[in-house]
Amino acid sequence: MADRKATLQIDGQSIELPVLSPAAGKDVVDVRTLGKHGYFTFDPGFLATGSCESAITYIDGENGVLLHRGYPIGELATKADYLEVCYMLLHGEAPTEEQYQEFKSTITKHTMVHQGIHNFFNGFRRDAHPMAMLCAVTGALSSFYHDDLDIHDENQRLRSAYRLIAKIPTIAAMAYKFSIGQPFVYPRNDLGYAENFLNMMFSVPAEDYEISPAVARAMDRIFTLHADHEQNASTSTVRLAGSSGANPYACIAAGVASLWGPAHGGANEACLRMLAEIGSVENIPKYIEKAKDKNDPFRLMGFGHRVYKNTDPRATVMRESCHEVLKELNRDDPLLDVAMELERIALEDDYFIEKKLFPNVDFYSGIVLKAIGIPTNMFTVIFALSRTVGWVSHWHEMMGEANQKIGRPRQLYTGYTQREFSPIKK
Ligand code: CMC
Repeated sequence: MADRKATLQIDGQSIELPVLSPAAGKDVVDVRTLGKHGYFTFDPGFLATGSCESAITYIDGENGVLLHRGYPIGELATKADYLEVCYMLLHGEAPTEEQYQEFKSTITKHTMVHQGIHNFFNGFRRDAHPMAMLCAVTGALSSFYHDDLDIHDENQRLRSAYRLIAKIPTIAAMAYKFSIGQPFVYPRNDLGYAENFLNMMFSVPAEDYEISPAVARAMDRIFTLHADHEQNASTSTVRLAGSSGANPYACIAAGVASLWGPAHGGANEACLRMLAEIGSVENIPKYIEKAKDKNDPFRLMGFGHRVYKNTDPRATVMRESCHEVLKELNRDDPLLDVAMELERIALEDDYFIEKKLFPNVDFYSGIVLKAIGIPTNMFTVIFALSRTVGWVSHWHEMMGEANQKIGRPRQLYTGYTQREFSPIKK
């Protein structure tokens, strides 16, 4: 297929561009040589631009397919646990029992953070957003773990990846504990990844905390469903930061920052705030009208997706979990009624059907997180925690490329052309 060409006619010039075929998905026109002919491509928002090669995750948005290393997300979410998914994202293959046990033990043994990081938190205001704390403390990890920062050494890269996957839950829980004025809870090596996180979040030294297996399962599933998502804004940010040779902790901090926005990982928090604003089932029609009104900036948060135009396969699994958890916990919360009714109305509304806007994973994960008692401002932190493995896997893949280049987009300049400068005194 390498000899297929696309021909571009510009100003009498005929430019031949190779057409490349991926393992799955749409063919791509390789425009790398266009610059030599005096042109660049223009594609703000990367609507039709591939930025890299990757063998980690495949998405077919039109058909609602999401595969990690070839495995469908629905199977992974129901038949594997999060650490198995982490292993395959990072290493390329599902682990054998022995590899899994070794990986689990390595991650478990890296969950504690340097004691100096505890002091770090005292510099924050109590009302600091936990994403601000996560972003800062993740970046600061490079000042504590600089023994493994040779990014060209595969083993050192993997050690940094393990540290990140292991320590992010600890930092996330510390951010929460700091904000509510409770003592930090140290990680426990006898607990699984999700259980340990719940324990660090909710236990206190004064009494025992019982971890509900249903809640732990739902948490693990939320981690799995958010583990990776191909070249989204935050992963692309991590790749771009990493392309300059920055250390992995700095790159992941950049990913955390990029994820924070409401159009991306901030959607689950924004969704819950929206449900609170709607307040009751009777108000839903008014908000549906606001969402359809072109002159109103209001959008239904947790609805729509850039790549999924049919169904979000993560949402299908999360929806099941959502109903399971609500039933199991028997939670009586008016916001959950609003959410269920909003889902029903929007799925039947012509505007949402025509524009292919349906609840995405964050609509349901927000509801589950609320039901299991996670405060709203921690939702995006939990997304970041889950996505850390995706970010480090992409970073590791990119750093292992033979001819890795710094990411440096071009632009369509719209400012002044050259003009003469007059000193202010004139
Ligand atoms: N509510 C109402 N209208 C919407 C919504 C919404 N949530 N999303 C898109 N639209 C309309 C939009 O007004 C536009 O209408 P028109 O064609 O008449 O101008 C059309 O649908 C296409 O929207 P777009 O903004 O051009 O689509 P996009 O692919 O650039 O944006 C999106 C995708 C996810 C940013 C957007 O759907 C959105 O803002 N959704 C709410 C935020 C959200 O839930 N984000 C989480 C995504 S899932 C987590 C993740 O993977 O990051």
